[in-house]
Amino acid sequence: MWIFGRKGPSGFSACSTAMEVAQGIDGSGLTAIVTGASSGIGTETTKVLASCGVHVIMAIRNVESGKKVKETIIKEIPDAKIDVMVLDLSSMASVRKFASEYNSSGLPLNLLINNAGVMATPFMLSQDNIELQFATNHLGHFLLTNLLLDNMKNTARENQKEGRIVNVSSHGHHFAYGEGIRFDKINDSSSYNTIRAYGQSKLANILHANELSRRFKEEGVQITANSLHPGAIATNLMRHHGFIQGAVNWVGKYFLKNIPQGAATTCYVALHPQVKGVSGEYFSDSNIAKPSSLAADADLAKKLWDFSLNLTDPK
Ligand SMILES: NC(=O)c1ccc[n+]([C@@H]2O[C@H](COP(=O)([O-])OP(=O)(O)OC[C@H]3O[C@@H](n4cnc5c(N)ncnc54)[C@H](OP(=O)(O)O)[C@@H]3O)[C@@H](O)[C@H]2O)c1
Repeated sequence: MWIFGRKGPSGFSACSTAMEVAQGIDGSGLTAIVTGASSGIGTETTKVLASCGVHVIMAIRNVESGKKVKETIIKEIPDAKIDVMVLDLSSMASVRKFASEYNSSGLPLNLLINNAGVMATPFMLSQDNIELQFATNHLGHFLLTNLLLDNMKNTARENQKEGRIVNVSSHGHHFAYGEGIRFDKINDSSSYNTIRAYGQSKLANILHANELSRRFKEEGVQITANSLHPGAIATNLMRHHGFIQGAVNWVGKYFLKNIPQGAATTCYVALHPQVKGVSGEYFSDSNIAKPSSLAADADLAKKLWDFSLNLTDPK
């Protein structure tokens, strides 16, 4: 589709760039957190949101690279409002510290972009002894979102503006283990498969957004939650596989989306007026798309919520 650039019902296609989908949108007065803003899709998302006037907090684990990215963006967009804060999603202590500092800073929160991710890592445990891809891609974001929810709810109520939570998932969710989420084998190294474990964590991103959306509707809260596949883009995501990363970067120039195209769906779901009131959907190429049947399973989403709550104990 990106080759032919066929437009979907939104009027955008796989060829649309983040700047194009956000063109003319006034985001001034909005505050966003973008996780994993130091590289790839997260950096481009930060730039485009900031170019629309959004105050962006780059939530990153490496302060030095975060500051460099911020300086580069400010050179291009001198009036960009960007701050850098430390967040390591593979550590619940770091997530709690970030949320506590953010909430006590007095900053409001309109948009939460859960973008950071690792892919196909060898079997590793997080600082809290949980398989690294599930811990980083899902659990860290689950805890972060829960700890920021009161702030988002207050902001939505006081500003009378819809809050939006955007989970950057992947088409890779189709490659999750057969049962979807291996609740009883989350740390089983003997049957660990790098791609299936990535798929499991990306399936969790969709289920998380869906369950959030269900809860917001039940509570009558003015916040939406959606998930998306950004496309296949040559970024640093395959860093754990040097040869494949090199090949992807080379082939990517010709056959994959570029990074401005890769950030388009995120910026569309975060900012575009067409998405107002739309919640619990999965997007691809800046249009609503259909995820796997496991991703649409509401009981699985509830089970994952309870499992994640138990592992993170956010109170
Ligand atoms: N690229 C694709 O083709 C593709 C396809 C489908 C989905 N996605 C999804 O898109 C999202 C962004 O990926 P990308 O392609 O832009 O990859 P990327 O260039 O590797 O960026 C990933 C970002 O996540 C951050 N990150 C990783 N572990 C973290 C942790 N423990 N705490 C905080 N931040 C952490 C990285 O920080 P460091 O720089 O410090 O490592 C980096 O800023 C991911 O969720 C990925 O699954 C990408």
